[in-house]
Amino acid sequence: MGQEARSDQIRQMFDAIAPGYDARNRLFSVARDHAWRRRAAERANLHPGQTVLDLCTGTGKLAHELLSSTRPGGRVIGIDFSQPMLERARKLEPEVEFRLGDVSRLSEPDASVDAITIGFGLRNLVDREQALREMRRVLRPGGRLVILEFAPPPSGPLMRAYRFYLTRVMPAIAGRLSAGERHAYRYLAETVQGFPQPSELAAALERLGFAVTVEPLTFGIVVLHVAVRRG
Ligand SMILES: C[S@@+](CC[C@H](N)C(=O)[O-])C[C@H]1O[C@@H](n2cnc3c(N)ncnc32)[C@H](O)[C@@H]1O
Repeated sequence: MGQEARSDQIRQMFDAIAPGYDARNRLFSVARDHAWRRRAAERANLHPGQTVLDLCTGTGKLAHELLSSTRPGGRVIGIDFSQPMLERARKLEPEVEFRLGDVSRLSEPDASVDAITIGFGLRNLVDREQALREMRRVLRPGGRLVILEFAPPPSGPLMRAYRFYLTRVMPAIAGRLSAGERHAYRYLAETVQGFPQPSELAAALERLGFAVTVEPLTFGIVVLHVAVRRG
């Protein structure tokens, strides 16, 4: 399957799960998702008047967390390619500028934004490296890219339990709701397990011209990469 067809398939999946997305997140993260996004927003280290892009913004929850630190005078722009996700986002947070678009091709000029956040989005991008290059292009030197993402479960008994939860329990519960949800949560389990380990992602970001710090959250199930654009 070509990249465009794959990307279209992913978009359709998110279109289908948009109505229940926030409720499922709360349930499956045992209500940790809010704290994860708040921490990501803090790590963006924004100041009044600055401009930040929230990529793969979904229903805009992370974009919402960024608003207070950019006020007064700043801009929070949320970008996503799923119209149903953005419709919910616009209702929930009218003060963010939400835009329909593919985050692998940003319309912002070079070095024009102070920070970029991407929450549970990088894992879904078909050409991850190209998208990261694009993020570096639009960030000003010294600007921050904050990536919030699930990490593949490392070995160990606690992580065996988590793997079981991820691969069996979540798809089974979601499958009771609809076939679309079951598919989405199987996709989640596969993409989390196939995602690079935090040190590998950090090394890739360093190669692309970022200085990186890595912060594990909730036993390392979720990881924050804070990548500052060098030069
Ligand atoms: C798992 S959701 C994350 C939403 C939100 N950031 C959050 O914290 O809950 C992933 C989002 O990425 C969007 N997405 C995936 N690939 C994309 C792309 N290439 N361009 C724009 N949005 C994309 C999907 O439509 C979906 O809303």
